[in-house]
Amino acid sequence: MVTKLLNAEKAENIELCADIIRRGGLVAFPTETVYGLGANGLCGDAVNRIFSAKGRPSDNPLILHVSSIEQAVSLYRDVPDSFFKLAEVFWPAPLTIICKKAPVVPDETSAGLDTVAVRMPANEYALKLIELSGVPVAAPSANLSGKPSPTLAKHVYADMFGRIDAILDGGACKYGVESTVISLAGEPTILRPGCITPKMLSAVIGCVKVAESVSKPLAKGEKVLSPGMKYMHYSPDAKVIAFSGSADKIAQKIIQKYEECKDKRCVIFASEENEGKYAGKNYVVVGRRSDPVTFCSSLFSRFREYNDFDCIFCEALSLEDEGLAYMNRLLRACGFNVL
Ligand code: TXA
Ligand code: MG
Repeated sequence: MVTKLLNAEKAENIELCADIIRRGGLVAFPTETVYGLGANGLCGDAVNRIFSAKGRPSDNPLILHVSSIEQAVSLYRDVPDSFFKLAEVFWPAPLTIICKKAPVVPDETSAGLDTVAVRMPANEYALKLIELSGVPVAAPSANLSGKPSPTLAKHVYADMFGRIDAILDGGACKYGVESTVISLAGEPTILRPGCITPKMLSAVIGCVKVAESVSKPLAKGEKVLSPGMKYMHYSPDAKVIAFSGSADKIAQKIIQKYEECKDKRCVIFASEENEGKYAGKNYVVVGRRSDPVTFCSSLFSRFREYNDFDCIFCEALSLEDEGLAYMNRLLRACGFNVL
C-alpha cells in the first residue's frame, strides 16, 4: 500500500480522507494533542485494521472521536449529569470521557469492555474530517505500539508509511501529549492525566479521583482500570533516566551521571532554570519548570529526535497540574527508573 501524504489546508483533501474512512480505510489526522490513526469506529473490520497497522494488543480499547455532544450521547447509555457538565464546559478539548457504552459500539472498539471512551477534539481539521465522515472516528495515537506518540506528520510517516491509506498533514500538534481520560462509569476517576488538569475538572463536577497507576507502576495482580496502563509506553531506543528532587539537586545529579557516562552519547533535556548549570555539556532546553505545560509540548518529538542516542537524562517535575501529565509519560518512558 502506498500512503498518500495530503495537506490539510486543502478542503478537497479532507473530503478525500473522509471518503477513505467511510469506505473502511485508515487515515492519520492531526488533533490538538497528537496525531490520531482514524477509522470508522462503528465498523469492527475497519477498527481491526487499526490494531494491525499499529501492532496494538486487541485488549486495549480505542477512543471514539465525535464532532458534537449529541453524537457522543448516541454512543453511551445511562449518561450521568456530570458528562453534560464536563462536555458543555470543556469540549471541544483534550478531554476524553468514559461512560457505559450503547450497543451500537462494536466490541472491537471497546475491546470487549462495557464502557466506551469518547472525545471531541479541538482541531479544526479533525472536526471537519469527523463531520464529513458522518461516523464517530476511532483513533488511537498514530505511532507504532510502544513508540512515542507522533506530534508531526513526519513522525506518522516514519512509523506508518505503507501501513495506512493516507496522512492528513495539519502541522504541529498544540499540546504534544494525549488527552486527559476521565471515567464517569463509577466514581469520577482520572485514568490518564493531560492538559485538562484534576483541578480544572473538580472545579466543574466536584471531587475527582486520580487512579494510582497514573504515577506508579502496577502492583502484581492489581486490577487495571485502563488497559493502556499495562503496557510499556512512549519509549525511544535511547535509555531514558529521570532525576527527581529540587531544581538544584536535579542538576547536580544529572551532571554527576553525565560525567560517569563520558564514553556514551548522552543528552540532557534541560529546564530553562537549570540551563546555565549544564554549560559545556550536550543539552537541549525542553521547558520551564515554573510552567509545566511547556515540558509537555516537545517531549515526544525530542524523544524521536534523540532516539539513536545512548542515554537521555530528564528533569522530573512535581506531580501537580500539567506536571502530572508530563510525569505520567516520562515515568513510562523510563520504566520508572528515577534517580
Ligand atoms: O489525545 C488523545 O487521546 C489521542 C488523540 C488521537 O485523540 N488518542 C489517544 O489514544 O491517545 P490511545 O489509544 O493512544 O490512548 C487511549 C487510552 C488507552 O490508554 C486506553 O487503554 C484508554 O485510553 N481507554 C480507551 N477506552 C477505554 C475504556 N473504555 N476504559 C478504560 N480505558 C480506556
Ligand atoms: Mg497511544
